[in-house]
Amino acid sequence: MKAKKRVVTARPTARTPTVRKIKPAIVPAPRVAASARPSPSLDKPARGSRSSVVAVAPAVDALGGGEVDLSVDLGRGLVLPNPILVASGTFGYGIEYGDVVDIQRLGAICCKGTTLKARIGNPTPRVTETPGGMLNSIGLQNPGVDAVIEKYGKTWSGWKVPVIVNVAGESIADYVECARRLDGQPGVAGIELNISCPNVGKGGLQFAIDAEAAGAVTAAVRRATDLPLLVKLSPNVADVRPIARAIADAGADALTAINTLSGIAVGPARSRPLLGNIYGGLSGPAIKPVALRVVYEASQVVDIPVVAIGGVTELADVLDYLAVGAVAVQVGTAIFADPTLPARLVDELGAECRRRGLDDYRPLIGTALPKRAGPPSAKGVEYRP
Ligand SMILES: Cc1cc2nc3c(=O)[nH]c(=O)nc-3n(C[C@H](O)[C@H](O)[C@H](O)COP(=O)(O)O)c2cc1C
Repeated sequence: MKAKKRVVTARPTARTPTVRKIKPAIVPAPRVAASARPSPSLDKPARGSRSSVVAVAPAVDALGGGEVDLSVDLGRGLVLPNPILVASGTFGYGIEYGDVVDIQRLGAICCKGTTLKARIGNPTPRVTETPGGMLNSIGLQNPGVDAVIEKYGKTWSGWKVPVIVNVAGESIADYVECARRLDGQPGVAGIELNISCPNVGKGGLQFAIDAEAAGAVTAAVRRATDLPLLVKLSPNVADVRPIARAIADAGADALTAINTLSGIAVGPARSRPLLGNIYGGLSGPAIKPVALRVVYEASQVVDIPVVAIGGVTELADVLDYLAVGAVAVQVGTAIFADPTLPARLVDELGAECRRRGLDDYRPLIGTALPKRAGPPSAKGVEYRP
């Protein structure tokens, strides 16, 4: 492992306090109007408004209030300017959206899943719309880590917005080698491990569904790089808590939760499943209650920051995730319907803090968690809640 170094950061601040130390907010969050239902268009930017960059004015100017500190420390020097990130696979490599939105206003960009070698992805069809969301089975189509570094690294290094590279693999050696190649590369602010991948060494069982395998891959990558390391939890498990703990114990700097839920759709003639890969990952508003539960459970058993992902379409979703212990959120599927949403959420969160008389957003974190951590129960997975 190389010597410790600082990576791309915004303003350094004190490390985000753990949720247990945070005081509850005084004013309840209002619900805001529901935004448009996401309509997926594969993992490409929405067309239509490409000619003009939507520069969302800082909320501070719009409302004339004082500046709100939205910065968030994800550990190991990765300090984001705000807690609104974009989720892997829904924002390309960031570049694709440069003429649609002011990407520099985002908290961070998690780029498309990246593997050691290039992958052509799954057979088509790869996406389909579902009630309240979408199913995708892109299959990690990407040009491989070396090509990603060569193609995008220089551009990323000139950006204010940190870029976190989402890494996937089929063996621990894959993940380790990918992380090694990213280590020290200009423009790479951190790594997010997508461990929802079949582990060839364990007979095809996903790393993410086994605490031992999740801990082993995290520990191996931790030894290989000094980059901030985020590890993404899968919801497709009976109990996420031992897995979250194993990942934290293995040296991850933060958890992100959740990846998609496994699902299928049936083809029009009902003669076979619709997706070319049969199985797809469900995302969008439909998965938010599941993601809330996972974030709620994980944030009570680890002391590292938890970043929430799942069906964010409006400010109320962000506030809900903060309330159950997330320090930040990622926006995914909703970007296909409205690429300007993440930057707008930054403004709306700042405005919401000012409305509540807060000069930073941290008092919003953990307000819906139990006041005292109780013993773990099976409530999250039992048949009758
Ligand atoms: C088209 C598509 C591609 C995705 N690709 C990846 C990926 O490469 N790596 C990864 O970790 N997650 C990937 N995801 C999962 C998202 O990052 C996110 O965890 C999930 O969609 C839940 O968030 P959402 O409901 O806001 O979309 C993908 C999701 C979609 C919809």
